Amino acid sequence: MDQKVILITGASSGMGYAAAQLFAKNGWQVFAGARRVSKIPRAANIHALSLDVTDSTSNQAFVATAVREAGRVDVLLNNAGYGEYGPLEEVSMANARKQLETNLLGAAELAQLVLPTMREQGTGRIVNVSSVGGDLYWPLGGWYHVAKHSLNVWSDVLDTEIRQFGLHSVVIEPGGTESSWSEIAMKNVTKNLKENSPYQPLVNGTMKFMQRLSGTASAATAAELAKVFYRAATDARPKRRYYYSVTDRLMARSARVHAGTFHRLVTLVVKRSL
Ligand SMILES: NC(=O)c1ccc[n+]([C@@H]2O[C@H](COP(=O)([O-])OP(=O)(O)OC[C@H]3O[C@@H](n4cnc5c(N)ncnc54)[C@H](OP(=O)(O)O)[C@@H]3O)[C@@H](O)[C@H]2O)c1
Repeated sequence: MDQKVILITGASSGMGYAAAQLFAKNGWQVFAGARRVSKIPRAANIHALSLDVTDSTSNQAFVATAVREAGRVDVLLNNAGYGEYGPLEEVSMANARKQLETNLLGAAELAQLVLPTMREQGTGRIVNVSSVGGDLYWPLGGWYHVAKHSLNVWSDVLDTEIRQFGLHSVVIEPGGTESSWSEIAMKNVTKNLKENSPYQPLVNGTMKFMQRLSGTASAATAAELAKVFYRAATDARPKRRYYYSVTDRLMARSARVHAGTFHRLVTLVVKRSL
């Protein structure tokens, strides 16, 4: 049996870093990409490569290197992502585009690049790291939620198109997980907020609410999520969605099924936090 080959984006930190370690430990050949190559974990079977998923030339080089060196691709793990947080009125269109290019279009382009190889093999899987925020939403996370909701639909449509070739596209929806993600998202709120912004009270209220929430809910570790990624990549009968916890699954489902109630709940919480 050939050594399995996985391409992981965003492998320099958090869940992507932990996933690169886990797949390597299990004997996979790992092509791990990120902009900060020096932060990608080192191991004999990890190839650390420079990758900016918003750059087509970089995406092409990443996939070409893996195909040239390994001769096959079993899994593409689209994990790279960040939160371009801020009020929708004030986030610049340039930053909104960057959010969609990183969290959605980069993943889509990489899939286009690996699919011909997977089709030829007659086997392969695209594993997309979305979020519970791909079903629910909260103020200030507008473009992030748009990107993750879109990633979910994109994955579902892709799955219906590629099953005929023996291929699958699946989604993982992590909830709060220990990584650099929240720090970057919170920095982006400050960056995107205009001077004397009328949204400052909403930002203060939301931050306070989030802090209270993170004080009560226990965040998962990146290593725990990497195990979910592993399941999604290797399940004999892949599921459409993967969650870390029952709570994450229920939250996502409630927001989807009871969309009106969820919207009223968010509106009420925002009103009380102002
Ligand atoms: N942490 C959470 O609570 C949480 C919850 C739900 C979903 N998620 C999702 O999980 C995924 C992993 O996030 P994380 O929590 O592990 O955050 P993280 O620690 O901030 O890691 C994000 C990774 O994405 C990479 N990345 C960002 N922009 C990139 C680009 N243009 N090109 C290539 N790589 C890029 C970063 O690498 P470089 O900066 O070196 O390029 C880094 O390795 C993301 O898609 C995130 O949205 C996170």
